[in-house]
Amino acid sequence: MCGIVGVTGRADAQSVLVEGLRRLEYRGYDSAGVCVAGPDGALATERAAGKVAALSDKLGARGGLAGLSGIAHTRWATHGAAEERNAHPHRAGRVALVHNGIIENHGALKAELMAEGRVFVSDTDSEVVAHLFDAALDQHADPHDAWRAVIDRLKGAFALAAVSETAPGLVFGARKAAPLLAALGPGTGYIASDAMALPEDAATLIYLEDGDTVVVGAGSADVRDAQGRPAQRKQAAGPGVFGRVDKGPFRHFMEKEIHEQPEVVGRTIAAYVHLADGAVNLPAKVDFAAMNRLLIVACGTAAYAGMVARYWFESLAGLPTEVDIASEFRYRDPAFSPGDAALFISQSGETADPLEALRLCKAAGLVTIALTNTAHSTMAREADIVLPTLAGPEIGVASTKAFTCQLSALAALAIAAGAQRGRMDAQAVKGAIADLSAAPRLMGEALSLRQGVDALALDLARSDIVLFLGRNSLFPLALEGALKLKEISYIHAEGYPAGELKHGPIALIEEGVAVIVLAPMDALFDKTRSSIEQVRARGARVIAVADAAAAVALEDQSALTLVTPDAGRLATPLVMAVAVQLIAYLTAVHKGTDVDQPRNLAKSVTVE
Ligand code: F6R
Repeated sequence: MCGIVGVTGRADAQSVLVEGLRRLEYRGYDSAGVCVAGPDGALATERAAGKVAALSDKLGARGGLAGLSGIAHTRWATHGAAEERNAHPHRAGRVALVHNGIIENHGALKAELMAEGRVFVSDTDSEVVAHLFDAALDQHADPHDAWRAVIDRLKGAFALAAVSETAPGLVFGARKAAPLLAALGPGTGYIASDAMALPEDAATLIYLEDGDTVVVGAGSADVRDAQGRPAQRKQAAGPGVFGRVDKGPFRHFMEKEIHEQPEVVGRTIAAYVHLADGAVNLPAKVDFAAMNRLLIVACGTAAYAGMVARYWFESLAGLPTEVDIASEFRYRDPAFSPGDAALFISQSGETADPLEALRLCKAAGLVTIALTNTAHSTMAREADIVLPTLAGPEIGVASTKAFTCQLSALAALAIAAGAQRGRMDAQAVKGAIADLSAAPRLMGEALSLRQGVDALALDLARSDIVLFLGRNSLFPLALEGALKLKEISYIHAEGYPAGELKHGPIALIEEGVAVIVLAPMDALFDKTRSSIEQVRARGARVIAVADAAAAVALEDQSALTLVTPDAGRLATPLVMAVAVQLIAYLTAVHKGTDVDQPRNLAKSVTVE
């Protein structure tokens, strides 16, 4: 979603800000802007609809903005169209301000400010905050007091950064239910919504907490809590030069991330199991024996990982498991029982709905577990138990390696649950770990499907609709395959449980409709084959994703079979994930869409 960068103490402030925006591009946005405080303290702003490159062009055309401090923003439109006049920073008198999130009481505040004679020029909810700050600076001698007074009036979720002509060299920040951190270097200070945006000299990160305000100067950060008291916050080393990511030899980040999976899945598995002993070794203690029910809550792809895991938790550990979409869960008055525990899956650890769901469960007294790819995220800080996925930074908006790392961690957790609950003896645990540990190698082999997928993708790129079918733990993978395809190629795709076909979706089948069937040679293979027959009889073009034995059995029934390496029950969804990711990726490449930053999408959805 929107991205924020603020800097002070850098002679090259404009370049630091624009480079920071470039590093945040992966989060998804539709306009960008920058404001630099010139040597005389006067603020100069430039904004552009569209990409950061368009902003850079405009800055270049006016010879750049000189100054030591400033703020910048990438905006993902919520209130007001994606036009330049709605782009941030917003100006009001002596103030410039950028905002992520939603100011829920902006209507009332705007009416009040207009009654005082203030004029608004955008359709955004954010502009009110700039006006409030400009007004407050007249009422408080200390600019931090003025900033605090503004924040106290806001309702909603926000991360904010501001500069003022009355406080040269200072950058003001505030966070509530949206990510923001401060950082310090030698004689420099920063604010950012994501550490990825920071330059190499940002050696110390300061993790702000909800309700905090901060005023960053050159080499200093004054953090205050929601009551305005000075606060010490958790610090960590900055990402430095090693935190940087590039595409390497790949055309897109998504392509790179698909190819990284054997390595990062291997790394994640190694954090959860003792490969040599064939035993589980979780990175944090989880008492599955004490649980009566596991609630898994997440959004999008992460929720699909949870749905795959439900099959594993129930069959390996006999642990009743429910999976909920976070935005539904948090508003449906969920009923809890003693022994319930809640597991939240989130790549970013900042997604608004699972974060609020976590808070809801915590308040209800449940043990809360966060499975996240971002060790210092808000969810990691707030959950009782934190479990990592070791995917490394995921830049492509469409999740790939984070998903398979989630699956591998969840498989290890299900094995641990099976052992703790007495459903699996040491031998069974060993067997399951051997199955899971083969995944990185088999995923590596599955990458060679690319050649076969490429011809298929050329065809799919001309389709209006594609269906994905699967059964058991591959049903959620059918959902994931459809989500990946629609996200980046904009083709209408749906995933269904193969057995549900006759209850409605089969009406979509007509001559030539592509149906991608996930069909390993498992206990349900014959049932899957009969679903294939049903769609084939109605003219569908069946593409099977099948292991060697299933490929032979389907020889006459599929128009094309992508043969995946033979894998055990736990590794199969991981291996077949590579196939559906390649299908989506290569189809999008043939369609010529913006693969890493698909339209309308944001990497981390920090607003409702
Ligand atoms: C799809 C995708 C999204 C995310 C979802 C949750 O490719 O990436 O569906 O999975 O927005 O995000 P996190 O995992 O950061 O909570």
